[in-house]
Amino acid sequence: MKLANKLDRYPAKMVSKLANRLVQRYASKADSVLDPFCGSGAILVAASQAGLPVAGIDLNPISKLFCRVKIRGFDPCRALKLGRAWIAEAQKPIKPLPVDWDRKDYWFTQGTLRKFEQLRAASKIIPLRDSPEGSAVLLSYVLAVRLCSRADQHSPKPFISQQARHSRTGRHFDPNRIIIELLTQLSTLYGSDRNENARFRFVYADVCNPHRQFDDLGKHSHAITSPPYINAQDYFRNFKLELHMLEDILPFKVSNLRERFVGTERGRLLERVSHESIERGFALIPELERLVISAPRLCAVVHRYLYDMSNAFDVIKQTLKHRACLVIVCGDNLVGGVRIRTWKVLHTILEEKGFILFDRFSDRISDRLLPPVRLGHKGLIKEEIVSAYRLDNPKRR
Ligand SMILES: C[S@@+](CC[C@H](N)C(=O)[O-])C[C@H]1O[C@@H](n2cnc3c(N)ncnc32)[C@H](O)[C@@H]1O
Repeated sequence: MKLANKLDRYPAKMVSKLANRLVQRYASKADSVLDPFCGSGAILVAASQAGLPVAGIDLNPISKLFCRVKIRGFDPCRALKLGRAWIAEAQKPIKPLPVDWDRKDYWFTQGTLRKFEQLRAASKIIPLRDSPEGSAVLLSYVLAVRLCSRADQHSPKPFISQQARHSRTGRHFDPNRIIIELLTQLSTLYGSDRNENARFRFVYADVCNPHRQFDDLGKHSHAITSPPYINAQDYFRNFKLELHMLEDILPFKVSNLRERFVGTERGRLLERVSHESIERGFALIPELERLVISAPRLCAVVHRYLYDMSNAFDVIKQTLKHRACLVIVCGDNLVGGVRIRTWKVLHTILEEKGFILFDRFSDRISDRLLPPVRLGHKGLIKEEIVSAYRLDNPKRR
């Protein structure tokens, strides 16, 4: 079992002890396991190590790099050769591929940025997308981004603290050197555990989009997931440096995902949320009547969350077999001073959609081997509730 370390950091990452426990308890006889909010892949890794075929969905393209490297592993020699070839190509006289972001000069020195932009251009010549080794090289690139920036290195969210301003401003960080160092470390962690036969599929997509079909992922006997909390993690902000630097290397657009992470506070929150869904939100959480007066924007965040999660459950249902098992790990939220029992609200929505609860237990944060530091929860989250459902009536909506 790999312990979390600085190479495997992800906001709200599930500890591997819990992921293993969930797979053993609910999915030991599974045909396959889906995690529709798979993040850094804790559940998928646990299930894959138990010999099960796995499938993941996540809106964050970086999630795929984590999952692929951790599940499939890679050949360290080939990865180093590929990484060095990429860097050598970037050092030739090559026209940089600019990062399309007006804040880039705030985070990086000119010299660092130029090297990144040359690497971006070289990614069009050296193929990195399709092989396990290419994923390892790209993950090293992603991990190098924050290390090469002016951001405080201790904060989970990128920001420039006074100390960072003092110690990092004007310093040149060389991505070419740091990428190779990170790749070497990744090789030690994951390069030896190659499992080319691991059956793993991944789609990066918005799982709340009711029009998105996931036929390519097949049907699964089990789904185990920890969905985002309301307004607790700003996944876009957490990854904004990395996503801007990765845009155009992988096929995604930052503008298409920045407002689509579940639980977001960004953008026009209620644009697509139906009147019916808002009414339902007030009925599910009567405290919202208070919140809509004291903090209308936060109230909109909650309505949007409920709308998104309801859609996500419909989409997840389509990917499940008859009598499939769905396991959700979720706790409470504190939004604008109002305590919301998010796990209970999700339970009500799931029951309405034909899921029948058959098991539940509480996982206390203080009992975890590595209690996660969760900014934004203000110490409210003392436990997470694990709820296991059987899909009784796939037709119900
Ligand atoms: C609580 S984290 C999951 C962490 C994961 N269990 C792990 O161990 O790393 C929730 C995940 O949901 C993803 N997510 C948020 N909104 C999404 C959306 N609309 N569609 C798909 N994934 C989304 C985030 O990118 C994040 O990775």
